[in-house]
Amino acid sequence: MPTPKRRRCFRGSFGSRIDGVIPECGGALEAPVSSGGLLVGDFAQQSSSLGSIRWLQVQSAPDLDLHSQLKELIPEQQSMASNVVVETLFSICSLSLFQERLKKLKSDHGKVQLGNITADMVIGGMRGMTGLLWETSLLDPDEGIRFRGLSIPECQKLLPGAKAGGEPLPEGLLWLLLTGKVPNKEQADGLSAELCNRAKIPDHVFKAIDALPVAAHPMTQFATGVMALQVDSEFQKAYEKGMPKAKFWEPTYEDSMNLIARLPTVASYVYRRQISFFFLFLSLYMLTLLIFGDLVAFYFIRKKNICGLPYVCCGILFRIYKDGGIIPPDNSLDYAANFSHMLGFDDPKMLELMRLYVTIHSDHEGGNVSAHTAHLVGSALSDPYLSFAAALNGLAGPLHGLANQEVLLWIESLVKEVGEDITTDQLKDYVWKTLKSGKVVPGYGHGVLRKTDPRYTCQREFALKHLPDDPLFKLVSKLYEVVPPILTELGKVKNPWPNVDAHSGVLLKYFGLSEARYFTVLFGVSRSIGIGSQLIWDRALGLPLERPKSVTMDWLESYCKKAA
Ligand SMILES: CC(C)(COP(=O)(O)OP(=O)(O)OC[C@H]1O[C@@H](n2cnc3c(N)ncnc32)[C@H](O)[C@@H]1OP(=O)(O)O)[C@@H](O)C(=O)NCCC(=O)NCCS
Repeated sequence: MPTPKRRRCFRGSFGSRIDGVIPECGGALEAPVSSGGLLVGDFAQQSSSLGSIRWLQVQSAPDLDLHSQLKELIPEQQSMASNVVVETLFSICSLSLFQERLKKLKSDHGKVQLGNITADMVIGGMRGMTGLLWETSLLDPDEGIRFRGLSIPECQKLLPGAKAGGEPLPEGLLWLLLTGKVPNKEQADGLSAELCNRAKIPDHVFKAIDALPVAAHPMTQFATGVMALQVDSEFQKAYEKGMPKAKFWEPTYEDSMNLIARLPTVASYVYRRQISFFFLFLSLYMLTLLIFGDLVAFYFIRKKNICGLPYVCCGILFRIYKDGGIIPPDNSLDYAANFSHMLGFDDPKMLELMRLYVTIHSDHEGGNVSAHTAHLVGSALSDPYLSFAAALNGLAGPLHGLANQEVLLWIESLVKEVGEDITTDQLKDYVWKTLKSGKVVPGYGHGVLRKTDPRYTCQREFALKHLPDDPLFKLVSKLYEVVPPILTELGKVKNPWPNVDAHSGVLLKYFGLSEARYFTVLFGVSRSIGIGSQLIWDRALGLPLERPKSVTMDWLESYCKKAA
């Protein structure tokens, strides 16, 4: 007899929200609270500030690691069909019948229309067209992102932090995205350790990056590093051996976890490599100074005796650029803190910023360029490395992830032009000048959102807490007042409010990470968490090759004329 598994209940999937009601659990299951689970009432008490409770989140079973939890969630159809024991087990666990659920959805409701596709949508980049299944998060135009049903403030409250009341650990978010459940602190710490163990980078990856000039854009170097990591793909190896479809998710899991674990080392290598270039330059400069300094000394010793000056200069320059070397990981740290450490930033506040940063940039439902690209490429059964490298190339575009770089450069050129002490009128003039030159105001607007991005809001709250007097933060705040009315006045911008990229640069710069061209790499590291999680579910659900229909302009014109 198989040991009956603990009964668990899952929140309704497909982003369904439940107004103070327990989600359906397949009839037979009753109280949806496992040990350590949160009751609706409990949570309402804990989070009175959150207003009405529209969802229920069951905490993770404290005795399971991430892989075991996933193994419970993802049924193996083949064995289910042939194995009564497993079948019984799954009927007890019933909630993990995701594949069955998907099949049933298709057979029962496959012909239900989700909206009308208009010619506008076909021409206009598929805006507003519902056409993707993406389990890990859902974006509401007014409310912003929800990760498995949890908003950003809710994640900040519920996910474990490095310290009580601190920013959430990205490990906790990864767990949540993969399983739909909130892990406890021990589980999040266990995942930190697992990611550390998986983070070994083969030497050829560094060599591949080294083959590029140091001046190559950091995103090019980063994507190259990811492609070099692909050599170790478990999925590719298993596929070549002829793995059955029901097993696809397992090597996808291995690849995704390895990828997520290895990215901070690759990304920090790209960062430190640039600094190393400065270091090389400085070393040559110092050598010149030393030689030249001797000559100067020889000359000045007789006169004013200031021969030590060049040496002092060299010392200062050395300190500014640290030692320029590669920093090994500190495996006692959590994922984001270790990443910050390898970049060369150990200020505890910077570590908190990095935890917040990696958490909020991880996932933004499936239609954005990077997520959609990974989903599309993955649908061809390209492994997670190939899919993610493709996603990075989309992220590197200025209308998507590169906007964080553009924002800081734009703000810096504003300061250069007008100074830090800038009046509202000067600011307005600068925004209009940008628009009149045919450029967009970076960090403002969004393809889906129609209100201020909650990812912007939580960064603003972080700044108010940790750097309220920073002049650049004050400038960002002023822009928040000035830009939306101007974009509204333009008349064509659907969302005049700031997005995530409008804020991140000044926070990073405050803590010393001021190389704007590098910012999108940070975004990329974080995005691997959302994309990796969804790729596992893509394969677990057996989602098919993505292949939408395209039409020509002739076809569209003649179709529309007939329809008129
Ligand atoms: C994000 C973005 C690409 C969304 O594009 P979209 O879905 O086409 O947005 P809209 O439907 O509101 O665009 C309508 C018009 O307003 C313009 N617009 C949108 N946001 C704008 C901005 N921040 N500054 C100036 N013009 C903007 C568009 O370029 C478009 O002009 P067009 O009709 O002449 O081509 C757009 O808002 C943008 O370019 N923002 C700045 C870059 C940025 O911050 N990107 C990061 C997004 S997270």
